[in-house]
Amino acid sequence: MDTLETVRWSPSGDAVRIIDQRRLPAEYAEWDLRSVEEVCEAIRTLAVRGAPAIGICGGMGVVTALLDRVHDAPSVFGARLREVATSIRETRPTAVNLAWAVDRVVQAGLAVEGRNEEVLDAMRREATAILAEDRAMCESIGAHGLPLLPEGARVLTHCNAGALATGGIGTALAPVYHARRAGRHVSVYADETRPLLQGSRLTAWELSRAGVPVTVITDSMAASLMRQGLVDLCIVGADRIAANGDVANKIGTYGLAVLARHHGIPFYVAAPTSTIDAETPGGDAIVIEQRRRDEVSQGFGALTVPNDAEVFNPAFDVTPAELVTAIITDRGVFRARYDFSATGGGGGPPP
Ligand code: MRU
Repeated sequence: MDTLETVRWSPSGDAVRIIDQRRLPAEYAEWDLRSVEEVCEAIRTLAVRGAPAIGICGGMGVVTALLDRVHDAPSVFGARLREVATSIRETRPTAVNLAWAVDRVVQAGLAVEGRNEEVLDAMRREATAILAEDRAMCESIGAHGLPLLPEGARVLTHCNAGALATGGIGTALAPVYHARRAGRHVSVYADETRPLLQGSRLTAWELSRAGVPVTVITDSMAASLMRQGLVDLCIVGADRIAANGDVANKIGTYGLAVLARHHGIPFYVAAPTSTIDAETPGGDAIVIEQRRRDEVSQGFGALTVPNDAEVFNPAFDVTPAELVTAIITDRGVFRARYDFSATGGGGGPPP
C-alpha cells in the first residue's frame, strides 16, 4: 500500500498540493494552494489538518504565496514575507507545529542577504527539509512505539493522528503501521470524534485503505468498551506538549485519559519533537482554539441544536501529564517526570 502524500509540492513547485480532507471519505480530491488566502482557507477549514501537516503546509505556503512577488523591491518583498507569515501563523493557535514551521522557513529566508530569488530558494529548501524530517520522525515514532504493541493488541485512538495528519505515516498510528509491518495482528477502535468526525471519516478511511482492521465507535462508547476489557491500550496524538508533559489534543482526549486511568489501561501520546513546546510551562498556558457554532449545531447538514441554545465548541482539551503513561517521540519514549531537554524542546532536525 502506497503511503498517502497529505502535503507535498505540486510537480511544478508553484503550489502546495494537499489532500482535501473535507471531502473524505466520500471522495478523494487534491487541492493546489498558491495564494496566502488559499493556504489560510485550507488550514482554517481543515482541508489540511493535524499538527505536523498544518506546519508543513504553512511553511510551504509562505513560499508559494510569495512566488508572484519575486520582482518586488527587496524591502517590499521583506514586508510582504512578514505579512504572509503572520497571516498563516494566526490561522490556528493550538498546534505549536504551525508557528514553529512558519518561523523556521521565515528565518531561513531572512538569513539570506541576496536577491529575492535566493531568499525564496532558501525558504523552499527549509520547507522541503521540514517535510522530510517529519516523514523521518513518523518512522522513528513507529519504531519506538512498536514494543508497546504486542501481538493481538487492540488499540483505541481519538481523532486522526495518522498519515493524513503528517508528512509521513502519522504519529499515534505509526506504531500500528509498524506492528503490521512486523506481522503482528493489531486492530484499532477509532473514536468517531465529534464534532468534525476526524476519527470516523479519516482514521477509519486510512486504516481501511492500509488493510488494518478498524472499528468506529461513537465517543461515548469508549467507557463501555474499556469496562468490557476490549481495549488493551490507547494511543493519541498531540497538538502541543508543554514542558511539564501536559498534552493539548483533540477535544475528548482528556476524557479518554480519565477513563483509561480508571480502567488501568495504558494511555500513550505519540508526537514528534516539533510538537514539544519548551516555552509553555504547563497546559494552562496553552491557547485552545474555539471554533464555529455550526460545526456542532449543523455539522453535516441537518440542524441538531435549536437556534436558541448556546453552543460551546473548543477544538482541543488538555490532558494533565499525570494521566499519560508515556510520550512516544522520534527520540524515544519519555515518562514522568518529563525532561525534554535532550530533544531540543521545540523541534529541530533529527540527530
Ligand atoms: O482539528 P484537527 O483535526 O487539526 O486536530 C488534530 C488533532 O487533534 C491530532 O490528534 C493532532 O494534531 C495530532 S496529529 C499527528
